[in-house]
Amino acid sequence: MAQGKTADQDQVALICERYQSDPHRMLDILRDVQDRFRWISRETMATVAAKTGLTQVAVEGVASFYAFLSLTPRGRVTIRLCDDIVDRFAGLPAVVEAFENALGIAVGQTSADGAFSLEYTPCIGLCDQAPAAMINDVVLTGLTPEKVREMVAALKGGKRPEDLISHRFDALSPYERAKRMVKNNVRHAGAVLLGPVPEDAGLMKALAQTPAAIIDQIAASGLRGCGGAGFTTGMKWRFAAQAEADRKFIICNADEGEPGTFKDRVLLTERPHLLIEGMTIAARAVGAREGILYLRGEYVYLRPLIEEVLAERRARGLLGTAIMGVEGFDFDIRLQMGAGAYICGEEGALISSCEGLPGEPKTRPPFPVTCGYLGFPTVVNNVETFCHAARILDCGAQWFFDMGTEGSHGTKLFSVSGDCINPGIYELPYGLSVRALLEMAGGEDAAAVLVGGPSGTMIARDTFDRKLTFDDLATGGAIVVFSPERNILEIVEYYMSFFVHESCGYCTPCRVGNVFLQKAVAKFRQGLANPADIAYLKDLSATIIETSRCGLGMTSPNPILSTLENFPLVYSAMVKPPKDRIRATFDIQSAISDARVLAKRRSSIYDKDFTK
Ligand SMILES: Cc1cc2nc3c(=O)[nH]c(=O)nc-3n(C[C@H](O)[C@H](O)[C@H](O)COP(=O)(O)O)c2cc1C
Ligand code: SF4
Repeated sequence: MAQGKTADQDQVALICERYQSDPHRMLDILRDVQDRFRWISRETMATVAAKTGLTQVAVEGVASFYAFLSLTPRGRVTIRLCDDIVDRFAGLPAVVEAFENALGIAVGQTSADGAFSLEYTPCIGLCDQAPAAMINDVVLTGLTPEKVREMVAALKGGKRPEDLISHRFDALSPYERAKRMVKNNVRHAGAVLLGPVPEDAGLMKALAQTPAAIIDQIAASGLRGCGGAGFTTGMKWRFAAQAEADRKFIICNADEGEPGTFKDRVLLTERPHLLIEGMTIAARAVGAREGILYLRGEYVYLRPLIEEVLAERRARGLLGTAIMGVEGFDFDIRLQMGAGAYICGEEGALISSCEGLPGEPKTRPPFPVTCGYLGFPTVVNNVETFCHAARILDCGAQWFFDMGTEGSHGTKLFSVSGDCINPGIYELPYGLSVRALLEMAGGEDAAAVLVGGPSGTMIARDTFDRKLTFDDLATGGAIVVFSPERNILEIVEYYMSFFVHESCGYCTPCRVGNVFLQKAVAKFRQGLANPADIAYLKDLSATIIETSRCGLGMTSPNPILSTLENFPLVYSAMVKPPKDRIRATFDIQSAISDARVLAKRRSSIYDKDFTK
């Protein structure tokens, strides 16, 4: 037994050495440990701490932050069920029941023989083919109770999760494997990204230009970031180019985790070369030699495909030293896997995660363009932004500028899901109305549309003529369609629970305030709210927005605020006049209990200590 433990720790030490025992590679180390042992034990944390020169507390801080890392043993097969609201409406409850019955365990449990773990996970980027689940590194979509029963029988019979996809899985190319698991559902290909794209044409033109000329073109095209905030890309690249430093970095944000967004998944599958081309052009423009592609843990099935593309480009001289023979133009990219944390999409948290830390946002300023990864100037852009940049270099700034509308140039990928006939990806010029997009997607019956995911805006039927632009309805790409049968308050409560789950916990207004907001929405659903609760929702939302440190807290009340504005009757219909209120059912202690647990606080010395 003791010998076994020593042998295990020898293996942990070897895993550390795989990453030169570099503390900045902590996430890679712990991911590999998790894959090998299915959990991260105290002994393991001590070994990792000793090898990397960190304290055990620091290692535990990382190990306990990420949902895909575990401090207790997980099953040899871990089934993660996507618990997004779209999946729930698409039949998740029956799928859950089928899994629980077939496995003999409830969600949140591991079977006694250690064979299976069953758990929920937030949106895994497959809303267009819900209900979906991850089974270890394999993705399964369009689940039904029948499929579940067959799958579990096959797994119990000794099949690997990969064998559920194809009996000749190992013989398939990484691209074929990805396509077997997940459909792309490209419903409308536009001129920029999903239409015909000549190979590396943008990079070849960039090689003949000065860095300043490349940045001038990107600026003149009007390209704005596609990750949600819409910052001008040319300006971002110029700031990074002007920064004086020995090292500079280009980071691709492929952490797309906003519920309802899956456009980057499709670009990563269909346009990986274009993405790397865009990153390489950015490197030339700002003078960076090192790049990181941060891929969300849920897209681990795309890892072999991206690694193959990187290797192929190195072999072709498109990455590495003296790219395409240009002396002094050196650039290479490492793949950084995430580990199940939505907050890591926020660029400061993303950088923390790449540095091997818990994914906590950083205080701004300084901004990443001057002080980013390891303190060096860093450009962080979304997958789609880099792809656009490569196309602009090929086809010209004016070509891109002429598409779309004033202030919103070019095309945008929209991920459409929910209650529509044709969920999938639509590449369209900015400026289209929501109504026009609904007509294309077969969602004309919609009663509500969520534009930009839960941190965006929920609009009602009477405003479907609003435009998809930065100046009207800005979106990172998520369009979730809800039919009249759906309960708006159920949707809002779900999204608030998402933010409660995903808050990194650093600041009190976000960590605790979102719990109170969720509870208040539940009160409306139960018909226990009074007129003053509407003002309470607004006041608390304003406080959270104003006092939160990062964009998560600054936007988390949006599901409530936009539905209060656009669906006021949904709330007022659930308000009871004061004399009818059932006061006896309101219990202040239970109302704040979750928040106390989250805040790790006791309300009095007689209370249980939640920190133990
Ligand atoms: C909570 C939160 C989550 C985010 N998630 C993502 C994401 O998944 N992908 C992304 O590109 N940007 C995301 N962002 C925006 C990034 O912080 C950043 O603005 C973006 O990566 C910059 O790239 P862009 O200029 O090309 O859009 C998120 C922001 C916040 C506040
Ligand atoms: S606003 Fe929320 S997610 Fe952002 S730093 Fe504060 S606690 Fe973390």
